[in-house]
Amino acid sequence: ESGAGGDRYEMVQREVEAEILPGYATRLWTYEGSFPGPTIEARRGRPVTVLHRNELTVPTVVHLHGGRTPAASDGYPTDLVLPQGWTGHHAHSMPDDRAVVTDVQREYGFPLDQRAAMLWYHDHRMDFTGPAIWRGLAGLHFVRDEVEDALDLPRSDRELPLMIADRAFDAEGQLAYPSLDPTLTGEHGVEEPFLAGVMGDVVLVNGAPWPIHEVDTGLYRLRILNASNARHYELEAVAEDGRTVPLVQIGSDQGLLAAPVRHERLPLAPAERYDVLIDFAGLPVGSTVRLANRLGSGGTAEVMAFRIAREGASAPIPETLADDLPEWDRSEAAVVRDLAFRAGRMEDGRHGWVVDGLPFDPARTDVTARFGEVEVWRLIADVHHPVHLHLVGFRVLSRGGRTPLPHDAGLKDTVSLRPGEAVEIITRFDGYRGRFLFHCHNAEHEDMGMMANLEIV
Ligand code: C2O
Ligand code: CU
Ligand code: CU
Repeated sequence: ESGAGGDRYEMVQREVEAEILPGYATRLWTYEGSFPGPTIEARRGRPVTVLHRNELTVPTVVHLHGGRTPAASDGYPTDLVLPQGWTGHHAHSMPDDRAVVTDVQREYGFPLDQRAAMLWYHDHRMDFTGPAIWRGLAGLHFVRDEVEDALDLPRSDRELPLMIADRAFDAEGQLAYPSLDPTLTGEHGVEEPFLAGVMGDVVLVNGAPWPIHEVDTGLYRLRILNASNARHYELEAVAEDGRTVPLVQIGSDQGLLAAPVRHERLPLAPAERYDVLIDFAGLPVGSTVRLANRLGSGGTAEVMAFRIAREGASAPIPETLADDLPEWDRSEAAVVRDLAFRAGRMEDGRHGWVVDGLPFDPARTDVTARFGEVEVWRLIADVHHPVHLHLVGFRVLSRGGRTPLPHDAGLKDTVSLRPGEAVEIITRFDGYRGRFLFHCHNAEHEDMGMMANLEIV
């Protein structure tokens, strides 16, 4: 539906069965019956409202990752959309008295006053984000703008969204998630196997295992999202003769770069997005280019493949891209903060993951930032943690005390901290006042408490 006030969508969250592995019917939690959920196409500054109706048997929360969204629609982890029959009873028993717990449906409003980018929406319920995303609650949301239009990048069937997510299946073809299926954790007990997060041995792209996509010998635009709960990838496109086909990065989480960056291998942490051009020119028709994962082994070493089906017209890669990237300087920073992402104890005393020693508590404000001020955050990690900030995009200032890596370019909303590393980011807290979040986007780390409140005042 489209009107003067923007575009309006309705989505029903429901369980369906779908064939993911040949011959098996897998139960999924979905938006509108599909995994990934329906893709939303939007224009910068043109608001979108989405009415979500919960027909699942569990409470849900919808968050638009990367969206510049007022707090009321940002999907705070206790702002639940209740399942049928839950209204009233649970409405007053939430730990946080600010939580809005009302109904089996909820309308989310997205102003989308932001740069063109590929965002994604996913579940964000407190303590249960991992299992909810794993079961299928994720979809893509594009924002387009004039800066992007002017570049004449590959579009329609030459623009390929790739939502990459690993999953594990049991013998019946059902999704296996250890914390919800204690029988599957076997003799290891419950804690140990997934302190690193939940991973699977099947790689899905847009919900299909290791797909093969037909292309021609032209230029393609890959919109890559790592929607995995915990798996990191290092992508490399490999032609049949063993040659690496370069991945030319033109954008990051929050839109276009200033100029393209060429990669032989592209690291991809959970929740990160990369906007990449790949040119199949000169490759033999009938041959195949594998998109490999250099961090994987066996099945997880492969992501998908492109089959070159015919000749096609090539196109040049633009030399310059966007000139609207925010440039913040360290000298502008009103505050410099250290924030540690490390192992710690959860509320029940078990080992988990925490921010600055404390597990997530909806009733506590962890960071108060002043509206409009620039801040530098020094994020410190023990092991790998992809750290995500809601509401704002940021630039990476330094990594391990050195200049950032080539793939850190552009405007980010998720940055991959490597073991033992400190990463400095810089941003301005503007857009909206209110309560937002920052957290590790390893979904299991997030559920175990590695999340904190950011109050913008
Ligand atoms: Cu992708 Cu707080 O989330
Ligand atoms: Cu987010
Ligand atoms: Cu983490």
